[in-house]
Amino acid sequence: MTNDTVAIYPGSFDPITNGHVDLVKRTLRVFDKVIVAIATNPDKDHSLFSVEERLRMIDEVFASLQGRVQADSFQGLLVEYAERQNSKVIIRGLRAVSDFEYEFQMAMMNRRLKPQLETLFMMTGESEFYTSSRLVKEVVSLGGNVSGLVPDNVLRKLQEKFKR
Ligand code: PNS
Repeated sequence: MTNDTVAIYPGSFDPITNGHVDLVKRTLRVFDKVIVAIATNPDKDHSLFSVEERLRMIDEVFASLQGRVQADSFQGLLVEYAERQNSKVIIRGLRAVSDFEYEFQMAMMNRRLKPQLETLFMMTGESEFYTSSRLVKEVVSLGGNVSGLVPDNVLRKLQEKFKR
């Protein structure tokens, strides 16, 4: 039994961006550990990167943080996963106002499903405000430069995928 506080940071992370990395680092100021949890659904998976590729990229990014960040994947309900991990907190990042409605719906649904679980919102860092995995993929696929928006290992993987 450990008294470590563990926050779950769920998402698709296809791929992880510097916005996500910033959020994890700031979450570590408040919690002892963060589990970066990739939600998977084999029936509707349109991801660019496989779960294994995404897990590896996340592990590489946080390799220097002495095990305080763990990459994992799960199927099924997030609230059930959080319970299995003995976590009471879900972390989500908020960028622009446009994120709010979707995030609010999910937080309310999760609260209904498991009232003892809290969703905490963190503001994304200002330099990452306009970064999203979707836009990063689109820009690279069209030959644009996203360096500075994703970690270097992710940039290399993106360039390999799109042969740039
Ligand atoms: O990065 P994303 O795609 O915005 O993350 C969405 C995610 C993974 C947090 C959400 O789809 C999720 O929690 N999926 C797990 C299945 C689940 O619990 N669905 C009900 C959410 S209210």
